[in-house]
Amino acid sequence: MKINKLGAFIGVEIKDLDVTNIQDKKVINEISELLSEFSVVIIRNQNISDDEHIRFSEFFGELELTKVGTDGSGSKLIILRNFDEDGNIVPPSDRQRLNNLANQEWHSDSSFKKIPSKMSLLSAKMIPSKGGNTEFLSMRAVYNSLPDDLKLIIEDKVCWHDYSHGRSKIDPNLVTPQERKALPPVKQKLVLKSNKHGKSLYLGAHCSKVDGMNEKDSAELLNNILQYTNDQKLVYSHVWEPHDLIMWDNRAVLHRATPIKGKVEKRLMVRTTVAGETSTINESF
Ligand code: OGA
Ligand code: MN
Repeated sequence: MKINKLGAFIGVEIKDLDVTNIQDKKVINEISELLSEFSVVIIRNQNISDDEHIRFSEFFGELELTKVGTDGSGSKLIILRNFDEDGNIVPPSDRQRLNNLANQEWHSDSSFKKIPSKMSLLSAKMIPSKGGNTEFLSMRAVYNSLPDDLKLIIEDKVCWHDYSHGRSKIDPNLVTPQERKALPPVKQKLVLKSNKHGKSLYLGAHCSKVDGMNEKDSAELLNNILQYTNDQKLVYSHVWEPHDLIMWDNRAVLHRATPIKGKVEKRLMVRTTVAGETSTINESF
């Protein structure tokens, strides 16, 4: 396999690999190492079926089952699309489109779960001709850019992550009572320390507040940190090519969808999510 570095802090591209025909566990270890160091791995030219996608993903750990209220619920796949069964683009007020809008906020997949995911693998099935990039923000680089006094303040802080938090800002009715019931808020460490390449910040759209602080102080602290995320140098913006398969480390980057430009064309992506092994609260380091 051929490897090229992409962004300044994150992203490598792999060519000449067939994920449906991996003979040697060494290849999986090598990809895991690349993911640990560069946080985002793009494998080009993988025209794979859903079963092949699942099989490859399972090399990296057990897969999450898709939560209630999401397309693919109960299976190992999440389906992201902006059109209905008949192939018609759905209106902007449709749940699918609103959920796509929610994906345009920086987030970490399933940070709202007690044991949040380790990585996600997203396969491009149909991509629009303009826009619809997926962007990744290096939370290790953000952490490294913080002033020392701020690093000290946040070192052992814990945050609440709540699925309803970010979604409710998009539309108060987007989160169903069933989702609310299934997904109570959970606590996560703010600074993750178990990656051998350095500490990283664990934030994103599901993060609602800092534990043990009043609303005002919590908002102030989070806003203070968030100013350091506004730096394009820390972002890798992926322009999708047909049959790209992207893997990312949910504990090292935040990611977001970006709008389709011009006329809305069909976009279809399929994702698997590798479950984490420990809660961030109990991570060993
Ligand atoms: C996801 C996601 C962004 C995109 O699959 O988890 O956030 O650009 N996708 O589709
Ligand atoms: Mn996501």
